[in-house]
Formats: sequence, structure tokens, C-alpha cells
Amino acid sequence: MASELIHRNQTTPQSSPNISPGTPSSPVRNWKTPFRYVAQKQRFFFVLVGIAIAALFFNSFPVSTSSLFQELSGGGGGSGLIAGSVSGLGAESSEVTRRVLYEAYTEGFRGRNVAATGKVPLGLKKKNLRIVVTGGAGFVGSHLVDRLIARGDSVIVVDNFFTGRKENLMHHFGNPKFELIRHDVVEPILLEVDQIYHLACPASPVHYKFNPVKTIKTNVVGTLNMLGLAKRVGARFLLTSTSEVYGDPLQHPQVETYWGNVNPIGVRSCYDEGKRTAETLTMDYHRSLGIEVRIARIFNTYGPRMCIDDGRVVSNFVAQALRKEPMTVYGDGKQTRSFQYVSDLVEGLIRLMEGDHVGPFNLGNPGEFTMLELAEVVQEAIDPNAKIEFRPNTEDDPHKRKPDISKAKQLLGWEPTISLRKGLPLMVSDFRQRIFGTPKTLIGGGATA
Ligand SMILES: NC(=O)c1ccc[n+]([C@@H]2O[C@H](COP(=O)([O-])OP(=O)(O)OC[C@H]3O[C@@H](n4cnc5c(N)ncnc54)[C@H](O)[C@@H]3O)[C@@H](O)[C@H]2O)c1
Repeated sequence: MASELIHRNQTTPQSSPNISPGTPSSPVRNWKTPFRYVAQKQRFFFVLVGIAIAALFFNSFPVSTSSLFQELSGGGGGSGLIAGSVSGLGAESSEVTRRVLYEAYTEGFRGRNVAATGKVPLGLKKKNLRIVVTGGAGFVGSHLVDRLIARGDSVIVVDNFFTGRKENLMHHFGNPKFELIRHDVVEPILLEVDQIYHLACPASPVHYKFNPVKTIKTNVVGTLNMLGLAKRVGARFLLTSTSEVYGDPLQHPQVETYWGNVNPIGVRSCYDEGKRTAETLTMDYHRSLGIEVRIARIFNTYGPRMCIDDGRVVSNFVAQALRKEPMTVYGDGKQTRSFQYVSDLVEGLIRLMEGDHVGPFNLGNPGEFTMLELAEVVQEAIDPNAKIEFRPNTEDDPHKRKPDISKAKQLLGWEPTISLRKGLPLMVSDFRQRIFGTPKTLIGGGATA
């Protein structure tokens, strides 16, 4: 019945159900019909709107991604979010998306730092370094800190004040680029730094023999802790080793390739063997873990801020001559040493740290003096009538010590510039002031107290 009704009302054949009643069935008319339909029902307007939205979306997609990455890169969690954003896509599209995201990321990153010209934008300064100096309250360390602060770096001094003094650093208190931490390097410490100058260790025989177990612990455990810090934060590490690693040398002058002649069980071994182990640790961290390291083998150094009465020969002679006491010469006084002024050493340490060579490098003044000759120079600087007193030599005291500095000359472009006769009066002036409290302006080399 239903089918009958349909058939009765139908005016067009069943095979053309989309053609309206009375519509001619020619091909031209059929082609125009969809446009008319679209125009009549305002579909054209919606199509235009759709195209506009799509164009807007595809054009703005890379821009929005780039800004997303700029935000992510600041938080350090970029890579995690990158991975998250591509998950769920096919392998190929993931790859493409990852590349687009990476490019957007690097563009965004570059854009933040470098202007279109490739120069650092106005108002942004070159980044200064953050540097830790262990043992920075000591003699050498405090002079090194002065130089680093003067060139604009931020310096953190870590020191337990065993032989160091706050007075050596007081002129930096209040400087926002300077921090002082009382800390023993035998305990680990975490600091965010770019470079580590590791000096912490008592350096004079009087001090390192005072508590030999602590001395070797400082050299071994302290160095391990600082190397661990370098590894953790990716800092460059410089070890201040010593000419004592050559022991009582059988080769003269000493070249870095000489392995030394050291007594492993003597009273000085806590220092000599401690420093040798520190060198070993430094090289092992370098070779096996890729840590950037530098090794300096320092020869006798003198200058202002040395510990008075620390048993080192220059400070001993100067303090004794100033106090009108006889200068103590151990043995026959014919054993030789070379003496380097502290500013020369600091220059060498900085060049080594900034340079491309691991070392070890001898840093010392090759000018060689017997103890008796040194006593004469002190007499010239302080008191021509100062007396000399001979005493038996100490155990394991090396007979000769003179650096071969060809390697430092060639690879670091470094050599000492201050002679003993020029440097000693500067030290005498500082000692005179500390012993007698004389104002520095009244001090002159050669004057008597
Ligand atoms: N001055 C030299 O002639 C000479 C020669 C060879 C090597 N060196 C090396 O240079 C470095 C500095 O020597 P210096 O002459 O300035 O000696 P220094 O005694 O004046 O300075 C050493 C500093 O290390 C600190 N220190 C010691 N043990 C410590 C620890 N466990 N934790 C934290 N801080 C500690 C001391 O308090 C001091 O401030 C030393 O490593 C020394 O072995 C010096």
C-alpha cells in the first residue's frame, strides 16, 4: 500500500532521487545546482569561516610552539615536555614534530641571547665566573682571591682557618662578589661554581707535622671531595701540588717528567705522599671521568701574609732578623732552594687554570740560593749585623731544589718576573707591620725596627 502511494505521487523516475520535481535533468543544470544550493542556504559563508579558522591555526602553530619552548627552556624541564608532547603520534610524525619543536626551541633560545646582528644585546654583560678557592684564607690563597675579585669574578672561599686568617681577606668583607665559608674540606660540600682552585692544606713543615694524620686526610679525602664537587657541577679543578713530590731529588733541576725520590714512611710523608696521592686522584678523575683538571707543582714561595714563625726558611729568617734574633740555619747552610714571589705564582696559577694544558707544571723561580746566600739577602734588607746560628739538619730535608720551568714557559707563556732582592723588601714591610704594628707608610726595606 505504501509503495503504491509512493508510486502514485512520483513525477520523476526513482533513479534520480536528488533532483527536485520539475527540474530538467541536463548535465549543465546538474553542475550548477550544488552552487545554487550552497548560495541559497548560506553554506558559502560557513565554508569561508572554516577556511579562515584553518589558515589561522596552521599559521600560528609554529609560533605558539616556539613560545612554549621558550617557557620550557627556562625551567630546565624542556626535554621531558618535548617527549610528552610527541607521545601518541606515529613514529614518522613524532620525528618531524620533534625536529620542528627542536628548531623552534633553538631559535627561541638563540633569540633570547643574541640579537639579529649576532652580538650580545646592549644591557647584557659577559658572564663572570663563580670560583671556589679552598684554603683561600691562607698566604697564597688570599693573594689569588685578590686577583680573581679584581678581574670581576665571584669568589667563594672555603677554609677551616687552621693556618689561614680572616685578616687576609677582611678587605673583601661587604663585597657582594665575595663569600667566606668556614668549612673543613675533609667533609663534602656542594656549591654551584665554574672553577675550583684547591689549595686547602697546611704547607709548612711545622704545620703539616703538627697533626700528620689530619694532613694526609686533608690531602686525600679533601681532594676527593673537591674532585667529587667538580664532577657534580662540571667545574674545572686545579690542584696546588708541590715540589715536595720530587722528594730529595736525584735529578737537578727537576723536570715534570722526573718521578722523584720520596721516603714513604718519613715524618714529611704525610705531606709529600699526600700530595702525590692527590695528583694521582686528580689524574684518575680526569682520565676515567673526563673531569677538566690542572696540576701545579709549586716551589718555595714567599711574600706578604705568610705565617710568621711557620718554620719556612724565608719567614723564619725575616722574623728572626726583625726581632734581633740569630737566623737559624739547619745543617751546613749549603742546601739550595729557589724562591718565588707570590704575585708570580698567582699569575702562573691563573694562566694554568685558563689554559688548555693539564700539567703538571713546575711553578717556581729558577734562581737558586744556598741558605747562607739567602741569609745574606735578608741581612741586606733588614740588618747587616744580623747573626747566623747553625743547628743540626731536620730529617728528610732535601739538599737541592730548583725548578725546570721550560714547560710552563713554552705552554703557558709564563715565567717569574720578581727577583729575591726586589720581592724580599715587600715581605719585610708586611712582617714589620705585623710584628711591631708599624704603619705601612713608614716602612722601608733596609730600615731597622
Ligand atoms: N707557599 C709555598 O711555598 C708552597 C709550596 C708548595 C706548595 N704549596 C701549596 O699551596 C697551597 C697553599 O699554601 P700556602 O703557602 O698558602 O699555605 P697556608 O697554610 O698559608 O694556606 C693553607 C690554607 O688552607 C687552609 N686549610 C688547611 N687545612 C684545611 C682543611 N682541612 N679544610 C679547609 N681549609 C684548610 C688553612 O687554614 C690555610 O688557610 C697548599 O696546598 C700548599 O701545599 C705552597
